[in-house]
Amino acid sequence: MMKHIFQKGNDQSKPTLLLLHGTGGTEEDLLQLTDIIDPDANVLSVRGNVSENGMPRFFRRLAEGVFDEEDLVYRTKELNEFLAYAAQKYAFDRDNVLAIGYSNGANIAASLLFHYENSLKGAVLHHPMVPRRGIDLPDLTGKPVFIAAGTNDPICSAEESTDLQSRLEKANASVDIHWENNGHQLTISEVEAAAKWYRNI
Ligand code: MLT
Repeated sequence: MMKHIFQKGNDQSKPTLLLLHGTGGTEEDLLQLTDIIDPDANVLSVRGNVSENGMPRFFRRLAEGVFDEEDLVYRTKELNEFLAYAAQKYAFDRDNVLAIGYSNGANIAASLLFHYENSLKGAVLHHPMVPRRGIDLPDLTGKPVFIAAGTNDPICSAEESTDLQSRLEKANASVDIHWENNGHQLTISEVEAAAKWYRNI
């Protein structure tokens, strides 16, 4: 089970927006983004089950930017299973879930794409990293992915961002990358760029 908020939208043909917060965040953090992205969509906002000195996360890390791979794989499966449970409980279409994640939340969203062919319909990744190296990705043909990256992000370097883009593209995902110059911050302008992208997918 994962702590979460579900808000039923007015339009069930829209994707369910899966919100995934950054380190130290909660399921409340990203709720206001949905007004900008799609006010008519269902919203499922989840709190990470891992605690790092009291800070919620979606998987453990050994150090800044160094992930506990075994826990990453386990927590990715846990989130994927939670999505199936929530789809049944709240009667939304499991095959139409679009993730919106920031930082650690973007990393677990990317990990869903890296490990499960059909977990997400698409994803908006704000300041993501490559969740895991050395594995073959599933076929992600046509899946739309929006990456908001920073030219000067001290946590996710520009090289890491383009590395993620090319790994997803090699798996045939359709990736758009948007650059900002505000470090690791989640900015309103990148959310607006994501909203514009969303209207065209
Ligand atoms: C992570 O641990 O997922 C990344 O370093 C980003 C973050 O600090 O949340």
